[in-house]
Amino acid sequence: MTDTGPGASPVPAIEVGDLLLAADGGSPVLLLDVRNEDEVKAWKVEARRPIETVYVPYFDFIEDEAGSVAKVPRGRDVVVLCAQGGSSEMVAGVLIDAGVHARNVRGGMVAYGEYLQPVAVPLEAAESSRFAIWQINRRGKGCLSYVVASNGEAIVVDPMKNLEWFEGFAAQHGLRIVHVLDTHIHADHVSGGPALSEKLGVPYSVSAGEGFELRQAVTPLEDGQALRVGGPAGVTIEVRVMRTPGHTPGSTSYLVGGRYFLTGDTVFVGSVGRPDLGGHVVEWGQMLFATLTERLAPLGDEVLVLPAHYAGAHEIGPGGVVSGRLGDLRRTVPELQLRSADEFIASVRAAVREPPASYAEIIKVNLGVSSAPADKITEWELGKNECAASTKRTAASR
Ligand SMILES: [Fe+2]
Repeated sequence: MTDTGPGASPVPAIEVGDLLLAADGGSPVLLLDVRNEDEVKAWKVEARRPIETVYVPYFDFIEDEAGSVAKVPRGRDVVVLCAQGGSSEMVAGVLIDAGVHARNVRGGMVAYGEYLQPVAVPLEAAESSRFAIWQINRRGKGCLSYVVASNGEAIVVDPMKNLEWFEGFAAQHGLRIVHVLDTHIHADHVSGGPALSEKLGVPYSVSAGEGFELRQAVTPLEDGQALRVGGPAGVTIEVRVMRTPGHTPGSTSYLVGGRYFLTGDTVFVGSVGRPDLGGHVVEWGQMLFATLTERLAPLGDEVLVLPAHYAGAHEIGPGGVVSGRLGDLRRTVPELQLRSADEFIASVRAAVREPPASYAEIIKVNLGVSSAPADKITEWELGKNECAASTKRTAASR
């Protein structure tokens, strides 16, 4: 193995964001994944175009360096990936010594799981002069946060735990965050909502719903209540609160400017949220069915669904945004075709599998009833979300 200690020439690195940008754009990168088979099976890097990947475990390089190097195609721009960026750095060094153009993916899958990519949601001209919506895509997990801005103010919806990122993004766009919202008590990731609101001294709102002990300091919101972003003078945008129970009893959606529907895990672009995570699949399934068939009924087909999760890179649209017109989803999402609550619940039961054990721990942290050190949270959050009721489209179920 190459000496990567002091004095050795540094192994060149590529950031996860740059790797995804290149892969999304169709650049001919060759990914060398040196994780073991189980890790690869559980979680892979996904881009909007397929990434050509070669799998040679790190331990093969230890046992048979020359034989392993020979498995890597020549004349290619190779990027080497492992769980945390350490083993891959050593392998990249070995390849460089053997004359291969290799770079290390800095931080590995952990960095992939944390990376946040902001994408502006395209608005109509008359709207974009009044407000902006950014979808913040946590690519590795398939989680989506939102920043809704108008006239120098912003509401952040479903923020991740990287508070500095959200503060930096607001500062970069000259925005003052005035309210932090969560659509529901998340199960797949630790929310940054409570800590962000506390740090900034602004209200935080989430509804846990009946049967949950919520120990976060929250500003309650009523169904139908309108929040205004943009200050008392000048341009403002209305964010209307809409209770959409079912994925969780407290699930809440937010309708921005009458047309942009931040649905949390109520409805996705290819599925709906799974109502079984609390262990009450019948009760919550009935609630979700009523939400999907009754509560959403008055919303027009032109309403754009902006969900909190997605199942795979194939759901990222051509402009980089994960979204779907409600009219299209009404025609294409299988769960929205079901005509009775019983049929709906049976379909959910057939589709979902046991959620990861960490989900129960994450829910407790998000309720504020327990806390955990950062390294524990990182460990819990590894892997893609499993929030959809229909797992047939999720890479995580493959
Ligand atoms: Fe969820």
